[in-house]
Amino acid sequence: MKQGVDISSPTGMKMRDGIEVPSEIIQKWQEIVNLLAEIMHVPSALIMKVEPPNIRVFVSSESKGNPYEPDEIACLNTGLYCETVMKTRQPLLVPDALADDDWKSNPDIKLGMISYLGFPVTWPDGEIFGTICALDNKRNEYSELYRKLLLQYRDVLQADLKSLATVHAELTTQKARLEELFARVPEAIVLVDGGGQVVRANPEFTKIFGYAESEVLGRSLNDLIVPEELKEEAREITRGRHTRGNLSFETVRIRKDGTRVPVSVMRVPMRSEEVACRTAEYVIYRDISDRKRAEERLRKTQAELAHVARVATLGELTASIAHELNQPLGAIVNNASASLRWLAAHNLDEARRSVELAIEDVHRAGEIIRRIRSFAVKAPPQKESIDMNETIREVVALARNEAQNHGISIQTQFGKGLPRVFGDRIQLQQVILNLVMNAIEAMTEAGGSSRELLIASRKDESSGVCISVRDCGPGLEPETLNQIFSPFYSTKPQGMGMGLAICRSITEAHGGRLWVNANEDRGATFQFTLPPGEEVA
Ligand SMILES: Nc1ncnc2c1ncn2[C@@H]1O[C@H](COP(=O)(O)OP(=O)(O)OP(=O)(O)O)[C@@H](O)[C@H]1O
Ligand SMILES: [Mg+2]
Repeated sequence: MKQGVDISSPTGMKMRDGIEVPSEIIQKWQEIVNLLAEIMHVPSALIMKVEPPNIRVFVSSESKGNPYEPDEIACLNTGLYCETVMKTRQPLLVPDALADDDWKSNPDIKLGMISYLGFPVTWPDGEIFGTICALDNKRNEYSELYRKLLLQYRDVLQADLKSLATVHAELTTQKARLEELFARVPEAIVLVDGGGQVVRANPEFTKIFGYAESEVLGRSLNDLIVPEELKEEAREITRGRHTRGNLSFETVRIRKDGTRVPVSVMRVPMRSEEVACRTAEYVIYRDISDRKRAEERLRKTQAELAHVARVATLGELTASIAHELNQPLGAIVNNASASLRWLAAHNLDEARRSVELAIEDVHRAGEIIRRIRSFAVKAPPQKESIDMNETIREVVALARNEAQNHGISIQTQFGKGLPRVFGDRIQLQQVILNLVMNAIEAMTEAGGSSRELLIASRKDESSGVCISVRDCGPGLEPETLNQIFSPFYSTKPQGMGMGLAICRSITEAHGGRLWVNANEDRGATFQFTLPPGEEVA
């Protein structure tokens, strides 16, 4: 054999592993060899490909008398013409093998091919792909023109290989980048097939849930669902079906060790064509424990602040509440004294009547104290179904005396058929009381003669509840409208400036909104909305 590079070594194939020549290019190459055979008047034009330890007929001309079938395979090291071209990486011309000692016993002669012209075909980095060649069953010198033609086509082939290699390199880089992202992204990514079975899961998935990828492959992600969350989950999925896009929500999942972890879940349907019909999807989880803890801390701090503010408000109301208590206490004393007198006069019926009246007053006094206690209590927020008209009545009971002391009358206008809302009763009382106290303070400060405060409830446009508190005070300058809701903004000597900030955070935490408008004549109207929580009351 001629000396040259050993093309049968495994290193010779490593670099090009995985690059497939696509069918469109094979089609084009087929036309090339067909043309070559026709123009050169030879029975056979071939493109051969080295696939150690073999050499394969990659494309074979569809010409008369061509003995080579596509995909035919021959072993290397048998002395084929093409094998020599590949090893030497040099063109080879054998005009008549029968007259050439070097070639007269080569295997192609058995197929009747006694002349050969071939060129090596290489990948852009010089690795051998194979050959392009023409074979004839008679002596053939292959004129200079034919050689040039074959060389031209060889260049076309090499240009195609260059594009293929470039695309392949790009794909490989992109794939590696995606793999790296998949491995290192701080979110659990799971690929689920149309049947709901896990196809892939990344290391973050193991970190969050404790399952190694091998433990979840082929399984369903339903094992992670907390049974109590199922209903909500089903609701989210139905909602997601309507949007037909990505679906994201927050929930709780079970880890392998049985503990629970709060997560955000995003389900992204796959768009790539071959899988789209099977509705495969990516499911992306993020561990939101830290955020949930921070939210819980913030919620606690806000609750504590709200509590402090409530106690402070009660402090402001002390004088009027004490005054309010004086009435039933005085009546108790009167009735008890009367009872003693009736007893002395042996009139038991009247004595009993006086005691009964005294008991009624005790209940009245008890009711005032109950209201104060329940407002001052420091309980964790508790959500329940609430009738807002009832909440307004409770606030009016707390603030009525304070208003009266300043010559202000509180009017109410209760909307009918209001939906109940779902919320914390004390917090919502606090919102209304803060607005009422501000209104009382504003009207007192303004010193005007009409001192009316109107609290009204109505159904709002989005079938929730809207509560408004309207005063006849000085109103608000347009430039302060944006500031009054900021914490610590106050124009009052003793004001903390927290009232409205607390009102806003409470209404927003209840899914509502709080705003203010200037009245047409005088004063301001604060309004807040709350979404409906349950069926119509
Ligand atoms: N009804 C109102 N009419 C006019 N101005 C008002 C009214 N309500 C609030 N304001 C203005 O908004 C400011 C902020 O009100 P906010 O209730 O937040 O704090 P504050 O009443 O000053 O103090 P506190 O923390 O004790 O409630 C008030 O100082 C006042 O200037
Ligand atoms: Mg205030």
